[in-house]
Amino acid sequence: MPEINFDEWIAQRYATLWPELFDPAVVDSAVNFLADLAGAGPALELGIGTGRVALPLSRRGVRVHGIELSPAMVAQLQVQPGASDISVTIGDFATAEVGGTFTLAYLLRNTITNLTTQDEQVESFRNVAALLEPGGRFVIENYIPELQRLPPGETIHVFTATPAHVGFEEYDVATQIAFSHHYWVIDGQLEIRSTPHRYVWPSELDLMARLAGMRLRERWGGWHREAFTSESRNHISVWERAP
Ligand SMILES: C[S@@+](CC[C@H](N)C(=O)[O-])C[C@H]1O[C@@H](n2cnc3c(N)ncnc32)[C@H](O)[C@@H]1O
Repeated sequence: MPEINFDEWIAQRYATLWPELFDPAVVDSAVNFLADLAGAGPALELGIGTGRVALPLSRRGVRVHGIELSPAMVAQLQVQPGASDISVTIGDFATAEVGGTFTLAYLLRNTITNLTTQDEQVESFRNVAALLEPGGRFVIENYIPELQRLPPGETIHVFTATPAHVGFEEYDVATQIAFSHHYWVIDGQLEIRSTPHRYVWPSELDLMARLAGMRLRERWGGWHREAFTSESRNHISVWERAP
């Protein structure tokens, strides 16, 4: 099993540590996009976390099942209104077995990079393809590796620097790993976290999809279907399992 990075400390503070994820405009646009694709459902969220998107999607009438590695994150989901409508399998989304099939599977906020080897990422596509109905869709929201923002020869990209939070990535191109370092000051206490992520380009994800019997249907720069261009910092990609 992969290591659990989203432990009790993170789970209790998830919304405080990443408040921008909980902006209603951000959540609503993701939910609209996913509800359109889910149709009659059901939908499967890989790495469902505290249910930031699964809960409002479920409130829209889509039946949602989740896979999640961290019991602490699931515990936070389960204390929220509407949680009893969402079922969760505790396990690794690259290998977890889940009963039933889905019209939509989705993986948000760079979570594919939590799988730190190419094999595990490939396995997650195979697992999703096996869980999708023919014609079902798989959505990934992921960042574009920030390599073009590094000065020549440098390996560090600072993505946030405020008095309460310094965050930077440290790229190792030989292993295709970006270590994500966070220094938070919370209630006067310094908390330091570092996690490895396997960064991955859209083209490599397309190849993983093809290996799993899926093909690219859409790629956007954001949830409002903004064009995906060489300036895009993120992508929303949609693959289809062969009908
Ligand atoms: C960045 S959080 C996103 C949570 C939620 N999807 C959201 O959008 O708010 C990543 C979540 O994926 C979970 N996760 C990471 N790797 C996983 C794996 N291999 N299998 C299942 N869950 C995983 C983490 O425990 C964490 O809850």
